[in-house]
Amino acid sequence: MKAIGVRRFGEPGELQDLELGKPEPGPGQIVVKVWACGLNPVDYKVRKGMVPLGFAFPLVPGYDISGTVEEVGPGVDAFAPGDEVYYSPELLPPGGYAEYNLADAGIVALKPVGLTHLEAAAVPLAGCTAWQGLFDRAGVEPGDVVLVHGGAGGVGSLAVQLAAWAGAEVLATAGADNLEYVEDLGASLVVDHAEEDFVEAVLEATQGRGVDCVLDCVGGETLLRSFQVLADGASVVTMVPENLGTLPLEGLAQAYFKNADVHFLFMQRRRETLDNLARLLERGYIEPRLEEVIAFDAARLAEAHRRLETGHGRGKLVVRVADA
Ligand SMILES: NC(=O)c1ccc[n+]([C@@H]2O[C@H](COP(=O)([O-])OP(=O)(O)OC[C@H]3O[C@@H](n4cnc5c(N)ncnc54)[C@H](OP(=O)(O)O)[C@@H]3O)[C@@H](O)[C@H]2O)c1
Repeated sequence: MKAIGVRRFGEPGELQDLELGKPEPGPGQIVVKVWACGLNPVDYKVRKGMVPLGFAFPLVPGYDISGTVEEVGPGVDAFAPGDEVYYSPELLPPGGYAEYNLADAGIVALKPVGLTHLEAAAVPLAGCTAWQGLFDRAGVEPGDVVLVHGGAGGVGSLAVQLAAWAGAEVLATAGADNLEYVEDLGASLVVDHAEEDFVEAVLEATQGRGVDCVLDCVGGETLLRSFQVLADGASVVTMVPENLGTLPLEGLAQAYFKNADVHFLFMQRRRETLDNLARLLERGYIEPRLEEVIAFDAARLAEAHRRLETGHGRGKLVVRVADA
């Protein structure tokens, strides 16, 4: 089968065509024919060797898949060949830049009815991260005030919609080109992160009270300064490990005096979270924001990695792995 991956860590130009054997399912596993694969920043982080896990080469990234079940292994009764599914593959095994993918059935869910494969592939990793951050970790409830940093990005664009669906008041940060876009997703205030001081803007918008939850999709200084906008008992959820080690710990004192909960989120792959998202997608409460469809070609994927690596973008890039 055709796959695209790297034979060593490095620049986007390391991405190349690979010819790999079609996987076969073991107990509890399924083989999925991949129709579409969503891209995420973790793709370039893995390609560059920034993720400190035990990757083997050739390494095939791609952590969002929508496809059709091709074969099921012994003991799998949740799926049958022909089922349409979506999921985020685990990081270490070969990922979604390939015609077929092998997955444990427990991390796979039925694709939301009514979504195309391209749309469904835009959801699993970012959507599960947003869901687990807002609800499983921060426990966001109706009436809470939630601040989403990076509201236009893959995680942020779903998090703004999910928090608004849950009845929270949503504040967000974004770049100048994305302010209206994030308002349209459901934020009542969008702060331009390059031109405005979000601490001042958020404290003014909340009459000095602060927010009940910060969902941090940016990290670094943005995470540290977020401790200045917390209401009593707030939760801070950060998902960006880079630069954590350089942050001065005394910044945490503000969280201490607010009795805040600080969560480090590494998204967990569970069918239940995908099923929750599917219900909302099918009813139109949230929608995937697909920015561009990328051809299944090593040079096009390298270009897409360069875009991801800028850290600025809106919505999702999705690779059309096969033509429906
Ligand atoms: N731990 C986990 O399990 C997990 C899961 C998913 C994602 N992540 C990480 O979370 C981060 C975000 O992921 P993503 O998929 O949402 O990335 P993305 O699609 O690239 O979006 C990042 C967004 O951040 C915005 N941004 C950049 N600098 C900013 C700043 N100083 N203040 C506010 N917004 C800023 C950009 O918007 P503008 O263009 O408007 O500036 C962009 O829309 C990545 O580092 C990713 O690796 C971790």
